Amino acid sequence: MSEALKHFIDGEWVGGGTGIESLNPSDTRDVIAFAPDDDGTATRAAIAAATEAYTAWSQASPEQRSDILDRTGSLILARREELGRLLSREEGKTLPEGIGEVARAGRIFKFFAGEALRRAGMTVDSTRPGVEAATYREPVGVFGLITPWNFPIAIPAWKTAPALAYGNTVVLKSASLTPAIAAAMTAILQEAGVPKGVFNHVFGGAAAGNALVDDPRVAGISFTGSQAVGAGIAKRAAERQARLQMEMGGKNPLVVLDDAEFDRAVMCALDGAFFASGQRCTASSRIIVTEGIHDRFIAALTEKVLALRVGDALDAQTQIGPLASQSQLDTTLSYIGIARKEGGRCVAGGERLSLEKPGYYVSPALLVDTKPDMRVNCEEIFGPVASVVRVKDYEEALAIANQGAFGLSAGICTTSLKHAHHFVRHVRAGMTMTNLPAAGVDYHVPFGGTRKSSFGPREQGAAAIEFYTLIKTAYTWA
Ligand code: UN1
Repeated sequence: MSEALKHFIDGEWVGGGTGIESLNPSDTRDVIAFAPDDDGTATRAAIAAATEAYTAWSQASPEQRSDILDRTGSLILARREELGRLLSREEGKTLPEGIGEVARAGRIFKFFAGEALRRAGMTVDSTRPGVEAATYREPVGVFGLITPWNFPIAIPAWKTAPALAYGNTVVLKSASLTPAIAAAMTAILQEAGVPKGVFNHVFGGAAAGNALVDDPRVAGISFTGSQAVGAGIAKRAAERQARLQMEMGGKNPLVVLDDAEFDRAVMCALDGAFFASGQRCTASSRIIVTEGIHDRFIAALTEKVLALRVGDALDAQTQIGPLASQSQLDTTLSYIGIARKEGGRCVAGGERLSLEKPGYYVSPALLVDTKPDMRVNCEEIFGPVASVVRVKDYEEALAIANQGAFGLSAGICTTSLKHAHHFVRHVRAGMTMTNLPAAGVDYHVPFGGTRKSSFGPREQGAAAIEFYTLIKTAYTWA
């Protein structure tokens, strides 16, 4: 039976409707849930509740905020198997990936339970005799959080937890493809004792999103999603000078040098490009390989790609689940066509798969002989597609890695300390991975990119305080 989801506003589950339908991408006959598709009305009610709740929450003891976040984390971790299963059923990543993501969400709440107690300011010796100068970190107000479907509990967690930890209130608008797993997080926050109005959650598309972005009662917007949607949000938010934090696309390079540890480099390419069906903004969809290792590397990688088992996300044998939606499937297939037209050669996969259950299945695609300026090397595909560019040496690899509009994560596989260190310091990306897959990040260190990948202060780890607090400087003569 499908679950009927409701908005969560001012401590109550309200509204209802079937405007949003959550389908299992591994078996589209399985309707997981229905949710209301807000036209802005529920979002404005949620903003009113968050505004009302702000004063008391912002002045509450940090211990109270810490305890609620800690309980939320414990409840999520205790239910990781069940919630991981729901996540995989709804989003399509494999069960180990689903359980891993739920555990990550739990750990994030626990990390920020600690951070709630560390909202510190500082004192500075004034230049004037008799004067004291000090800074305070203060909460900002109501935050609007707009989250994507590809990490449908971890991203809501990594925006909600710091917002609440530092004393702000929240209206979350989660992705329409994955309402059920997001609602499960909300139910846990309620169970953990979040006071009414402090955390609110609505379902909807652009109308609800715009209602959040445009409302003067919302002090800041944190968004993760596509570059196209993000650019629109940034424009609207700038109009009224809202605080902004945006995490958008990537076209992340993985450089493989001749001296790389061979098996590790193959593993990094396989994981970075194809796991989670390539639906990660950190996925390394451009593989840049120096000519001494190129042919041997492609042969080994092709063999591994062909051996990947595509199937139902919940099947223990599955290594690559389906894409999350029909539109992701269409985009992926269309880029494979574009690559072929532009002269790329598909040496593995790239086919629509008809399996026993009706789902959005495609075989992971490896494209070789691609040139850096082809569309597949410039535009984010967000599917299991990797394109290989052959280069002469490290210098050419770095120059190509630095091309393009995005700069989220960048990887290098090499045993040369000289090249690894040079890459870390010269690649234009917010995160670098040496002998590691370009995707798959820790939950307690800063996350973010450069150029069109990110805008505004960093997310996650101790850096999250920059976006979710304001500094007040206090001078006293006494
Ligand atoms: C990861 O690689 O572990 O939307 C996280 C995304 C990113 C998160 C990636 N914001 O794919």
